[in-house]
Amino acid sequence: MPQTLTHSAALAALDWQIDLGATEAICDAPINRYEVKQALPNPKPATQNLTSANPITAQTDLAPSSSPSSPAISAPDSTSNARSKNAQAIAIARQMATSAPDLISLRHNLGEFDHCALKKGARNLVFADGNPVARVMIIGEAPGRDEDRAGLPFIGRAGQLLDKMLAAINLARASDQPQSAVYITNVLPWRPPQNRDPEQDEIAMMLPFLQRHIALVAPEIVVPMGNVACKALLNKQGITRLRGQWSEAFGLPALPMLHPAYLLRNPIAKRAAWADLLDLQSRLKG
Ligand code: URA
Repeated sequence: MPQTLTHSAALAALDWQIDLGATEAICDAPINRYEVKQALPNPKPATQNLTSANPITAQTDLAPSSSPSSPAISAPDSTSNARSKNAQAIAIARQMATSAPDLISLRHNLGEFDHCALKKGARNLVFADGNPVARVMIIGEAPGRDEDRAGLPFIGRAGQLLDKMLAAINLARASDQPQSAVYITNVLPWRPPQNRDPEQDEIAMMLPFLQRHIALVAPEIVVPMGNVACKALLNKQGITRLRGQWSEAFGLPALPMLHPAYLLRNPIAKRAAWADLLDLQSRLKG
């Protein structure tokens, strides 16, 4: 790896290789791991050992957040440092979110927010799709690979299923009529690496933007899809229990539903999803 490669460029290159189907990382020349182990004299303390022997860890140590003068940070200090950094980031997010008077400014401020590490590894900010005049606002989890590439939520396989589900009750993101339109966003606007589950800190940091997003769209009904959205909006988890139970999110009626990606893996659950769609439709008609 060239020494000039930055942390984010290295991450993007790795992501690209994974997208192409790479499942192994190999060097130009083979490494005899047994030899390397034997050649090591008295192992140094773990942190020093890792930074000097492992080029990937060494690269990570070059990340802006690390302190080169204190490679071995004691656990309590690093934990409280991380906590206070996170609290500061949440305060900044809140300030940037609440100062946005409209969706265009909110999108702009989100793009300017640099405190979420996910942004570094993402190709695009995924803000929203659909019509903001819609009565229904759907909240997913986070962009996947296709969404990260296109900068739009729910356009991969799960998104195609979502569009079919919505069409079944005469809703569409392309509709220009409030009664048949939907507006779609995610809890996180950047793709987590390898589509891993969002972390609690990431959700908490981005929540002020989501809350403002919902306030600016002001839908009649919010639909959190899946566990991550339920955790963010309702502070509850256990989607198979919560689904179909009307609740309240930021003062608005909320109907938690199963995530379409879950339905792709568990087609049997489509029956429950259909019941929830009908419930949503009847609430809209009622
Ligand atoms: N899954 C989500 O939760 N959101 C997307 O945008 C795509 C897949």
